[in-house]
Amino acid sequence: MVVINRKLIKEFQVQSKTHPDKSIRAYYEALQKIAKESKNFNKFLSNVIKKRLDLNEKHLANLIYRSTQYIMLYHNGKRNLSDMESDDWVKEYTALLSDGALQELHYTQTISENTQTTKYQRYAGPKAALRAIFDSKSINVADLGCGLNIGLPGIELDFPYLKIKDNTGDNKITQLIKDQVFVKQGISVDIYDPKEKLAWALACSFYPGELGSLEETESLIDFLWNKTRTSFYRYDAKNIARLWNEKKLPLMDAVITSTFLYQLNDEERKKTFRNIGKILKQNGILIVNDFVEVDGSLSWDVDWFEKGASSYRTVILVKNKKGFSRPYEFIVWKNARCREASAGRDFEKVINFKF
Ligand SMILES: C[S@@+](CC[C@H](N)C(=O)[O-])C[C@H]1O[C@@H](n2cnc3c(N)ncnc32)[C@H](O)[C@@H]1O
Repeated sequence: MVVINRKLIKEFQVQSKTHPDKSIRAYYEALQKIAKESKNFNKFLSNVIKKRLDLNEKHLANLIYRSTQYIMLYHNGKRNLSDMESDDWVKEYTALLSDGALQELHYTQTISENTQTTKYQRYAGPKAALRAIFDSKSINVADLGCGLNIGLPGIELDFPYLKIKDNTGDNKITQLIKDQVFVKQGISVDIYDPKEKLAWALACSFYPGELGSLEETESLIDFLWNKTRTSFYRYDAKNIARLWNEKKLPLMDAVITSTFLYQLNDEERKKTFRNIGKILKQNGILIVNDFVEVDGSLSWDVDWFEKGASSYRTVILVKNKKGFSRPYEFIVWKNARCREASAGRDFEKVINFKF
């Protein structure tokens, strides 16, 4: 049992040292302590590992935390998790494991759910890209893996983003983010219906240090869902061309994939790219906003919390006759919270649309 769990426990150790949130570092420290003592916890881990062969340790560790946070927020009614120390987490998590119903819920979520962090601020990069490329033209835009479906409605309704630290020197990114994008038809897609998954998605969307803005996000969601004309489809984006055929949807000028493709394996990503090609107009744009590195091609095996250099980028690919152009690195974000941006190495090419 311990042998099966070894890699996952090693991942707890890595996260307890590298995660950007202090309370989450303490959480993973607590899990290591519990793993040393509790047979029940080791059994839980090995059962989960056997059921989640689709996930690597990094995703699994993240999912275990998200489910714990869901239980803390929506079962234990605790909204202040930012000051939790490792011993506090040991107490809370041990209590969770010894409550039959809660352990069952934790197990079910961990074996069946996927993390669905939705961040409104992340759409600042795609919006800047749309504005840079299409200027004030009216365009059809799809958002695949839309999570809570606030990103595209926010672009359509020109809802503002938080101020960013713009390292371009002359606020070029800031200006692009502020200028309006004209969405003729917006289509959002996710395998889950955001209305059914709201509590889970919210539990996935905040670090403990950010939970203060949970209520603000709840109001933002209300506002955007009520006002938007963007339509939502529940569908597997790997087969997105089939949805377009079934519903006779128009070809898109741009497709956004924000923090979605990193959740797929290489084969699934290839399939998704082929499908996206089929719903884009010729010379249409794919905006990949994700944990990705660009070096002639896209490389997905990156450290999410890299110290110093960032792994979160807004990248543009152009549909051509053969498939897609090489990826153009547009913006390099300091991290996936998207509050600090630097020009990517192809920034000038993108804003001058010289592909
Ligand atoms: C991390 S969330 C990103 C949400 C949002 N795009 C953002 O950037 O804030 C990833 C989303 O991708 C969705 N997803 C994963 N696999 C999918 C698939 N095959 N088809 C459609 N959506 C998928 C998940 O349900 C989840 O909502």
